[in-house]
Amino acid sequence: MSNKVVLAYSGGVDTSVAIQWIKEKYNMDVIALTVDVGNVADLEAIRQKALDVGAIKALVVDARKPFVNSFVFPALQADAVYEGQYPLATAIGRPLIAQLMVEAAKKDGAVAVAHGCTGKGNDQVRLDVSVAALAPELRVIAPAREWNMTREQTIAYAQDHHIPIPITKSSPYSIDENLWGRAIECGVLEDPWTEPPRDVFIWTKPPEETPDQPAYLEIRFDKGIPISLNGKELEGVALIQTIHNLAGEHGVGRIDHIENRLVGIKSREIYEAPAAIVLLTAHQALEDLVLTKEQLRFKTKVAGEYADLIYNGLWFSGLRQDLAAYVESTQRYVTGTVRLKLFKGNCQVVGRKSPYSLYDYSLATYDKGDVFDQSASSGFIHIWGLPVRTQAQVQSLNQPE
Ligand code: ARG
Repeated sequence: MSNKVVLAYSGGVDTSVAIQWIKEKYNMDVIALTVDVGNVADLEAIRQKALDVGAIKALVVDARKPFVNSFVFPALQADAVYEGQYPLATAIGRPLIAQLMVEAAKKDGAVAVAHGCTGKGNDQVRLDVSVAALAPELRVIAPAREWNMTREQTIAYAQDHHIPIPITKSSPYSIDENLWGRAIECGVLEDPWTEPPRDVFIWTKPPEETPDQPAYLEIRFDKGIPISLNGKELEGVALIQTIHNLAGEHGVGRIDHIENRLVGIKSREIYEAPAAIVLLTAHQALEDLVLTKEQLRFKTKVAGEYADLIYNGLWFSGLRQDLAAYVESTQRYVTGTVRLKLFKGNCQVVGRKSPYSLYDYSLATYDKGDVFDQSASSGFIHIWGLPVRTQAQVQSLNQPE
């Protein structure tokens, strides 16, 4: 009987301690799996550290492409933003990490998977539920949910077991990052009245220090997928990274969110999501042009549901698949170009065009060329207001005094 477990490994203190802890507590062999979903610093150093700390094997997977194509872009097409603020970067990374853990476990004949999430957050839910959906036979071990150690005790444990802790003063924050965004929690941020200190932000410049000239971007979409930037075709990962750099330089993408976690806690979350903010803004602007009023309204409702499903760990669910099919259908004419202006932390849409635009100049204009039949409006209003006139005859419609 195999005694192997695949651990999602970040190289940080918690997952390093987890390697030792699992060996001691469960007497299992740990295979470390590090998934690159973008913005991971030194993968080879992380891999080596896993082995030094006691993993029997250390795997590294570059998952940036599948992350973008199968998770980021579908979420973008859906305009999925949790509680109107959070573009869900961490939340869409988890199902992919779960999928890769399951694949590695099957390949290596492991009987369990493990992760470093605590028992207070959303990430444990996303990973556990995703693993259950993909491989119900696999057991999930979550050391940080079980060991009941404070941060200090974890560090002491690491020292006792000769697990290297970064010599540089470790960040006072808990950070998770991928191509779609960066989440920063803990430390002074836990006081919602405290302005986030400078050192919280790494990807975005403070608006006070951004260039005094705006930057203009033109993003072209094909069926809701961004395909080119300023006339140059780029594949997903490169496109996101290029926008990330430009928008960060102009201070775009900072979010300060009092967020409602699935486990019932309100938490203060700071995000940096420069590429996500730019692309979501552009995508919605193009939809405004090519979808009807009714399509837009219904899609906004779907976006809210879709975002909740993602946030709440239900990526691998029938309903998410159903909503994805609906969203896919809405995107068939979301083709065209959006022009944006980045300046001092703002991202503003300043132009949009599409071969499928429903905007009709001859209907909208107040100038020469107007084809709208204004004389028809009075008859329309007569019928439109009929129920109100009927009601006014028998009921008072004045505001109460
Ligand atoms: N609150 C965000 C979410 O639930 C970010 C979580 C960040 N995760 C972390 N381990 N620091 O998706």
